[in-house]
Amino acid sequence: MRILAIETSCDETAMALVEASGGLNAPRFKVLKNIISSQIEIHRPFGGVVPNLAKREHIRNLPIIFKKLKPTTYNLKPDLIAVTVGPGLEPALWTGVNFAKEIRKSNFPKANLVGANHLEGHLYSFLLSKKYDSKPKNIFPAISLVVSGGHTILVMMKSLTNWRKLGETRDDAVGETFDKVARMLNFPYPGGPEIEKLAKKGNPNAVDFPRPMINQKNYDFSFSGLKTSVLYYLRDNPKTKKADVAASFQKAAIDTLVAKTLLAAKEYKAKSIMLSGGVAANKALRKSLKAESYKLKANFLVAPLKFNTDNAVMIAVASYIQHLQKKNRAIRAQANLNL
Ligand code: KG4
Ligand code: ZN
Repeated sequence: MRILAIETSCDETAMALVEASGGLNAPRFKVLKNIISSQIEIHRPFGGVVPNLAKREHIRNLPIIFKKLKPTTYNLKPDLIAVTVGPGLEPALWTGVNFAKEIRKSNFPKANLVGANHLEGHLYSFLLSKKYDSKPKNIFPAISLVVSGGHTILVMMKSLTNWRKLGETRDDAVGETFDKVARMLNFPYPGGPEIEKLAKKGNPNAVDFPRPMINQKNYDFSFSGLKTSVLYYLRDNPKTKKADVAASFQKAAIDTLVAKTLLAAKEYKAKSIMLSGGVAANKALRKSLKAESYKLKANFLVAPLKFNTDNAVMIAVASYIQHLQKKNRAIRAQANLNL
């Protein structure tokens, strides 16, 4: 089945064509086309994403990307159109939803329309990992860490369709914390990649930042205390080496994420540990979680870098799983959708 997927929940206008096959026991995906148009430069002067600017840019970009994708070509016509309905910025989500409805009506009246959950897109992105061998018995139970700009969630997966949330952040998401700390260090939005770059030049043991809730026997996170500690440290030590602060902050954040993921992996005897969401693009986090997974003799599954930050391929993947389950979701913007 061919899927045309659209993602406009935040500041990336993304569209993809994906060929999906196999049932829920062994789904397979072949990426035919993947286009992402980033609005980062437009939002950068504002230090974050401005919802109405995002909406304006999505409206401008969607028809351009659609033209480039050429899904109206005979052998590329989709059987299913997938669009992110949430969570995300409401005005941005509506642009994708309206566009999906429009192209279905004018170009692909026979195609099914599926509303996808952006977080399920991240969660299921492990299916794009090169190490995914489509044998469920080797993968589940699994513990999945979803880390993005808006969410930090631990999920226990018994199978592709039977999973539940174990815990999440009680305050800031970890990606948001990277962005805020970057801003304190005078780096532009988005801060995650800037912190990662700077951290390479610093000493991760230079400053002993707190690792909030790390010793609590639950699966929740908290990052606002860590963020405030960095703020006070910079205020009290104005001559400090920025790279040391970045490296020490990154280490504190990663230690916390890894500790909670391992706690869950041991408790549920996980055969795999999965990592997804924009922060999964952080190589230090990937490396640390991979090493710890191997110590537990668990697989470590993460999608290639380009499918960690927002993209439409993961939306095609999530919509296929949803379609196989015959699950319906209202096709309207649902800004506060969760897992
Ligand atoms: O999944 P995503 O692209 O969008 C949301 O769904 O939120 O995640 C974006 C977040 C931003 O906070 C960004 O700073 C963070 O992911 N991020 C990173 C890295 N690349 C992106 N954080 C740490 N290290 C990175 N290399
Ligand atoms: Zn995302």
